[in-house]
Amino acid sequence: MTKHNGRLTKDGIRIHEEADFAGMNAAGKVAAQILDDIAPHVFPGQSTAEIDRIITDMVTASGTTSATIGYRGYQHASCISVNHVVCHGIPGPKTLKDGDILNIDVTVILDGWYGDTSRMYVAGNLSRKSERLIQVTHDALMLGIEAAKPGNTFGDIGNAIQTYVEANRMSVVRDFCGHGLGTVFHAPPNVLHYGRPGTGPVLEEGMFFTIEPMVNLGRPETKVLADDWTAVTRDKSLSAQFEHSIGIRADGAEIFTLSPAGKFHPTYG
Ligand code: MF3
Ligand code: CO
Ligand code: CO
Repeated sequence: MTKHNGRLTKDGIRIHEEADFAGMNAAGKVAAQILDDIAPHVFPGQSTAEIDRIITDMVTASGTTSATIGYRGYQHASCISVNHVVCHGIPGPKTLKDGDILNIDVTVILDGWYGDTSRMYVAGNLSRKSERLIQVTHDALMLGIEAAKPGNTFGDIGNAIQTYVEANRMSVVRDFCGHGLGTVFHAPPNVLHYGRPGTGPVLEEGMFFTIEPMVNLGRPETKVLADDWTAVTRDKSLSAQFEHSIGIRADGAEIFTLSPAGKFHPTYG
């Protein structure tokens, strides 16, 4: 059982202690390593079920526990969201085609701490259009992370992301958000990827949360399919997402889920 250190803000956001950063770093590093190691297993003809099976083995080999298996009835170690799937794609027998883009999202628990991260991959050749979507989404996440420092608000983070995405004529999904995490998977606050500067709770040292913008080439609206998980764009436009787990330090964000190999580009691997 992990002891709950620190205190809660008036918004119910936990303020963690110095020692907790080490726990988050260790968990985040395992999740990021799995995302590095899965890259060569993404290719045309591969099924998303097989990718998830390999991830399940990687989680076991790492000595961590999957946070998603058994979470609200979810049964897989990853979410794999292909093309117009926005998030929470369920791994299955369908095989990838040349040019498909996909987000792989993995969350592990190590010594009670949660590491939650996702990245984009491509099966085969990446089109210019998809590459631009993926680059803008990644840059938007990093701009959000740059805005994540004490004294700024959560609205500043959302605004940094939204402003950049819309300047590139793409749209930010409103229906899903990032979240506080630590010794729980989804904690306050909701981290919106859009918003107005100066609104929302003020960031403080010791807050742990994810930023995980979903960006669409078309309109922002989504719908959830009959399986109750798979979220897709209503207009069937392509969607991309990146996610990091971060902790707030005196001088800015510490990223717990950086790629050990420095990878993010979908054609690395
Ligand atoms: N990892 C996802 C997130 O970023 C949550 C997945 S929950 C699941 O918050 F049950 F769908 F796996
Ligand atoms: Co998350
Ligand atoms: Co995630």
